[in-house]
Amino acid sequence: MINTLLLVMCLVTSGARHKVHGTQNVLQEDLELERQLELLNKPPIKSIHTNLGYIVDCIDINKQPAFDHPLLKNHKLQRKPSFQKSIGKTSVKKSPTRPLLVLQKDQCPTGTVPIRRTTKDDLIREKSFLNYHIMTQDIPGVHIAEVSLSSLYGPYYGVIGSNNVFNPRVSRKDQVSSSHLWVQNGPVEAANKIAAGWHSDNFERTGCYNIRCSGFVQISKVNYLGTHVNNYSTYGGTQLEFIISITQDPVTKNWWLNMANINIGYFPAALFSNMTSADQVGWGGRTRTPPNTPSPPMGSGHFPDHTFHHACYFTFVSFQNEATRNYGIGPHGAQTFSDRSDCFGVRYLGYIAEEVGYSLQFGGPGGSCGN
Ligand SMILES: *[C@@H]1O[C@H](CO)[C@@H](O)[C@H](O)[C@H]1NC(C)=O
Ligand SMILES: *[C@@H]1O[C@H](CO)[C@@H](O)[C@H](O)[C@H]1NC(C)=O
Repeated sequence: MINTLLLVMCLVTSGARHKVHGTQNVLQEDLELERQLELLNKPPIKSIHTNLGYIVDCIDINKQPAFDHPLLKNHKLQRKPSFQKSIGKTSVKKSPTRPLLVLQKDQCPTGTVPIRRTTKDDLIREKSFLNYHIMTQDIPGVHIAEVSLSSLYGPYYGVIGSNNVFNPRVSRKDQVSSSHLWVQNGPVEAANKIAAGWHSDNFERTGCYNIRCSGFVQISKVNYLGTHVNNYSTYGGTQLEFIISITQDPVTKNWWLNMANINIGYFPAALFSNMTSADQVGWGGRTRTPPNTPSPPMGSGHFPDHTFHHACYFTFVSFQNEATRNYGIGPHGAQTFSDRSDCFGVRYLGYIAEEVGYSLQFGGPGGSCGN
């Protein structure tokens, strides 16, 4: 079954962990869910019934659910970024592998944007995930293999990389295996973070772990959060990859998400408590499983090995600093971190060749990795 989705996450932690109350009356809870669904699912101009079992609604771009967010009351819609991305296109042309385009045949009419319809099941799952956000560090069952750049080269205004896509097998409903890049600001306990990439899980979700993602403003008519990836890389075979970038608009300060050279949309600056710039950027993978259960594989399920058809990789990795230009990373600038190197590896390869630029690899088989 195809279950890899485009992923975007946004996290604003205040120090206090969210608490979910479990003792509510069931009927009351059900009514509450219905009420939330009514707010989330706007009246569609057109609905697309995908052959993957979910519905995509075409919503008036000015009436999308993001604008219900209390912090976006006076938000002015930004239709396209004020900056021109240049790295994406040239990199794809140079890339030795085929770019993975995730296009829907049936598109939304002009003036509307595709929004995956939220179901009651989605809300129930999201609720149970709120206490266990994969992006917070200290959660039992979460494992990490990542490369990051500390504040040394910052402040940062963007991060880029081209990522090959896999479909790591998850064996339980509550497991996740993801590959992503991110920008982050502030100390761990009060971090603001945006991550984007792909993830594999055993059920259909909206591609968003956090209710606060409702502040994401969808702009693309073509690609939306939670889009299914239509093909995968194979071990030793063709690698399917797409370029991902998160870039702060120098004029509006909104954080734009670009995937496969399409501006998907942005997180408005107003959503964040401390994100005028980023003091950390990075690339890598995370897995999550319930405490005391075996971890799912990460990436391709294979450890880094310096080749470009076995492990999961990011090529053309770079960041943007004050001058809003793209930079690669020097040989000693990157920090690698794996919390269980017997389960998941990570390697920063530095500059390899023009065809792949600065690169890194990560992943592994998982298994009994402790908590
Ligand atoms: C905001 O982030 C900066 C790092 O860029 C940090 O030094 C500062 O403490 C953060 N402020 C708050 C209120 O968390
Ligand atoms: C998936 O990619 C492989 C390798 O490029 C290709 O041979 C195959 O036809 C693709 N499958 C689909 C469904 O696009």
